[in-house]
Amino acid sequence: MRVLGVETSCDETGVALYEAGAGIRAERLASQIAIHAAYGGVVPELASRDHIAKLLPMVAGVLEDAGVGLRDLDAIAYTAGPGLIGALMVGGSLASSLAYALKIPAIPVHHLEGHLLACMLEESAPEFPFLALLVSGGHSQLIEVAGVGRYRIIGETLDDAAGEAFDKVARLLGLPYPGGPELARLAESGNAQRFALPRPLRNQGLDMSFSGLKTAVRLTIEPHRDANGALTDPVRADVAASFQAAVVDTLTGKCRQALEATGLERLVVAGGVGANRALRASLADLGRRVGARVYYPRPALCTDNGAMIAYAGWCRRTGAEAGLPRIVAKPRWPLDELTPP
Ligand code: KG4
Ligand code: ZN
Repeated sequence: MRVLGVETSCDETGVALYEAGAGIRAERLASQIAIHAAYGGVVPELASRDHIAKLLPMVAGVLEDAGVGLRDLDAIAYTAGPGLIGALMVGGSLASSLAYALKIPAIPVHHLEGHLLACMLEESAPEFPFLALLVSGGHSQLIEVAGVGRYRIIGETLDDAAGEAFDKVARLLGLPYPGGPELARLAESGNAQRFALPRPLRNQGLDMSFSGLKTAVRLTIEPHRDANGALTDPVRADVAASFQAAVVDTLTGKCRQALEATGLERLVVAGGVGANRALRASLADLGRRVGARVYYPRPALCTDNGAMIAYAGWCRRTGAEAGLPRIVAKPRWPLDELTPP
């Protein structure tokens, strides 16, 4: 069975072909960084327009790379939410109309379920149940994953997501969009001990909070600005390293508590912040200390991509029928509304 996956929830266009037994046969990804950089963040209307321009040629390209034709597809999965409504509509309309024309099912996929299951595409895939740390631009959650569609959120951020905090602090430091990876790069040359920043909600249950940390960073850097508001390079690097250490410490502490509370022995890291090297190293270390096995997909499967949508769609193939599909696009869509396929 071959499932085409289409991801257009935000600022990346992703298309991939998943084949049962063979894995990901081909994939393409187009980033919109160059389009949004001038504005310092994602401009929704520009995102939608670029998805429109890129998507169809990318579908053709993926099929060509895999050496299969449209008629060889068995289903088309697309991200139905959460995300930007216009961007979601582009992927949803293309996937639904193509599926209707081919008389195959269109399968709406929850973006976060895609992130959660991305680890299954790796050679050493975890078995259920596992604890997932899902850290993306819009979400920071600890989830007990008992199986596909069996998710229990046991902790989450009360305000900003971890990725959002990375992006906002990057902005304070004058780094270009997208801030998270830029800040992580800058942190590598900084001294993480220089600025003492809070570890929010440490030892206070499994919920998280990152907006106070962002404010603490803002107050910390103010006295270091010169008359023009500029910061020296060493200050910027040290703030980046100190901030990253605070987030990594906090997330690691929450994972330790969650592993303890649930008795789970496998930890899966998912979402864009999962690409962060310091976080990966810290969680690997935690795993060694508490005897848990830690799984993280390669960085390209942590950030947004079409492969995870194709795979999650394949997991939800049962019951999916051909016919006139209803385009599903939900800007907000709580993960725990999902049920098993
Ligand atoms: O999962 P994702 O690609 O998109 C969403 O579903 O939100 O996550 C994007 C988030 C952004 O906030 C980005 O700054 C952050 O992940 N991110 C990183 C790194 N790479 C991406 N944050 C820290 N370190 C990184 N290396
Ligand atoms: Zn994502």
